[in-house]
Amino acid sequence: MISKKDAKFLEAIITKLNKNSLKSSNNYPLLEKGFSNEDIMSGIEVLLSGKITMSDITRKFENYFSKFVGSKYSLMVNSGSSANLLVAFALVNPKKKNRLKVGDKFIIPAVCWSTSLWPLVQCGLKPQFVDVNINNFCIDENLLKKENRTKAIMNIHILGNSANMDKLLKFIKSNQMYLIEDTCEALGSKFKSKYLGTFGDFGTYSFYYSHQITSGEGGMIVCKTKEDYDLLHTMRAHGWDRGLKKSNKKNNFNFINSGFNLRPMDVTAAIGLSQLKRLNKMIISRSKNRKLIVNNIKNHKNWNNQYTFFEQNENLDPSWFGLPLLINQKYLNQKEKFLKYLNGNGVETRPILSGNFLNQPSCKLYKFKYKKEDFKVSQEIEDRGFFIGLPTKDMSVSTLNFLTDKLLKIANY
Ligand SMILES: Cc1ncc(COP(=O)(O)O)c(C=O)c1O
Repeated sequence: MISKKDAKFLEAIITKLNKNSLKSSNNYPLLEKGFSNEDIMSGIEVLLSGKITMSDITRKFENYFSKFVGSKYSLMVNSGSSANLLVAFALVNPKKKNRLKVGDKFIIPAVCWSTSLWPLVQCGLKPQFVDVNINNFCIDENLLKKENRTKAIMNIHILGNSANMDKLLKFIKSNQMYLIEDTCEALGSKFKSKYLGTFGDFGTYSFYYSHQITSGEGGMIVCKTKEDYDLLHTMRAHGWDRGLKKSNKKNNFNFINSGFNLRPMDVTAAIGLSQLKRLNKMIISRSKNRKLIVNNIKNHKNWNNQYTFFEQNENLDPSWFGLPLLINQKYLNQKEKFLKYLNGNGVETRPILSGNFLNQPSCKLYKFKYKKEDFKVSQEIEDRGFFIGLPTKDMSVSTLNFLTDKLLKIANY
């Protein structure tokens, strides 16, 4: 335990270092400085305790997370990608009732993340890509189709938004499929008052830098049954039964299943827990900043309908991640030059997820068969879209004006 006096001394150092590295208002990075003094102090406390590997603090974070999102079971891992990996391999594990078999299919939106897709493919499952909705960038529920052997959906809640969960759940129920919710970009978003990630059999989350909360690296899985939780728990660490209620108490090296080592560390759990405690505040700030930016742009004298902003889906209470923009047709030829200009002049941008993932070389390598014309919206999002960050603290007027000025310059390119 750090004494009060020492804690004060450490905090003074952290505050000083934070001040030294404060960004000017002529800079709008994707990733703003995301750690508070409390976050850093909770990490330091674990470091100083000498016990940084997974232990009590990780369990504390898992319990708090369960209560926060309203899920029975939570299991922390070392990244969002590891969360997806663990879920995929649990779904095909011999211990899993009604497990998926090699050659079974899963539905996934074409605007997806690499490690939402590949773990399921690595398990021998086949992707059935579906186009997305131009208004919210999430899977288009109206295009869902059960093919022979379609057994699961890997649904992605993009940048805090979500598809219509009522429609999605209806489809899943009538076709008896597993639902995995990749909520890596949407911790804190609610559909009809229920947290995203808690609708399906499994929900996965990422705490990578710039997500809704961050522990540097880190991830979480939520699930509904004790069987699934025990299976994930075993596979997270080597396949042994250590830490399970029904473990072999005499032998710590009892390997009951196959497994990985995807354990987080207590030091990251401490930072994640500290961040989760102030997530609601950050959600409010991000929402406020989003409104400020959109209004400031639309009310500017140079506004000439340069962009379309994506909107939250009906019944969604969003926890925003970044601010995606679609460039309107008139300015589309300027996109490449303009993004270069933005990035060279203090406004950091990136693609919306990875655009139409089917265009990526990795998909070519795996020779997926699909018709280009079935993914017009995903392609449109890739062609027209980019996104910028959304600060978790209230924005200053000078930063707001700097950003607005830069974004409206597209008319000059
Ligand atoms: C939708 C989605 N899934 C999974 C991941 C992987 O998370 P991580 O970076 O923690 O491995 C990301 C990362 O940004 C993501 O956006």
